[in-house]
Amino acid sequence: MRENVFLRRATPEDASAFLALKKALDVETAFLMLEPGERLTSEEEMRATLERIAAVERDYLAVMECDGELVGYLSAQSGSYRRNRHSAYITTGIRQAFCGQGWGKRLFADLIGWAKQSGITRLELTVMAHNQRAIGLYKRMGFLKEGVKRHSLRVDNQYIDEDYMALLLD
Ligand SMILES: CC(C)(COP(=O)(O)OP(=O)(O)OC[C@H]1O[C@@H](n2cnc3c(N)ncnc32)[C@H](O)[C@@H]1OP(=O)(O)O)[C@@H](O)C(=O)NCCC(=O)NCCS
Repeated sequence: MRENVFLRRATPEDASAFLALKKALDVETAFLMLEPGERLTSEEEMRATLERIAAVERDYLAVMECDGELVGYLSAQSGSYRRNRHSAYITTGIRQAFCGQGWGKRLFADLIGWAKQSGITRLELTVMAHNQRAIGLYKRMGFLKEGVKRHSLRVDNQYIDEDYMALLLD
């Protein structure tokens, strides 16, 4: 594990660097939602998003920083209503050069600590059914598969299934 990498919560000042990270991930991995060049978010829009996340107690965005650049993130967005505010939806991505070094586990361990303190009792996500590394990480962190979204995505002209996975914390 590299020593010059650290994890921290994101702030609105990260707008430009976070947008750059998302665009780099769009190019590097087909396991996330957007194709290269499809992300049209402006820096101002990203700043507004980060301001909203910082203001909402039950929303979470952690970033991995290395030499002034952002190289990974994990976000959790909780439900907006009384009946689903205990549940948060997760997305995560780490730059290729930093994958497979235990950072995913670190990001999830921090997230679970935050969730327990914040009254979040369910963490949920969807993952492409052939994304073995991500599924390995989620299982390792205690997530269970709850179902399948059949043909929910189309990647490189092929239909892809996604698994629903969740972790209960209560
Ligand atoms: C998926 C992702 C977040 C995982 O993070 P990571 O830092 O690479 O994972 P880690 O090194 O922390 O590995 C954690 C665990 O995952 C499992 N794992 C790792 N590589 C694996 C593989 N190739 N196959 C199956 N399981 C694997 C292991 O259980 C490992 O823990 P262990 O080594 O103690 O047994 C990261 O690889 C990534 O961002 N990939 C590209 C984007 C992506 O797929 N995002 C998720 C979309 S749902």
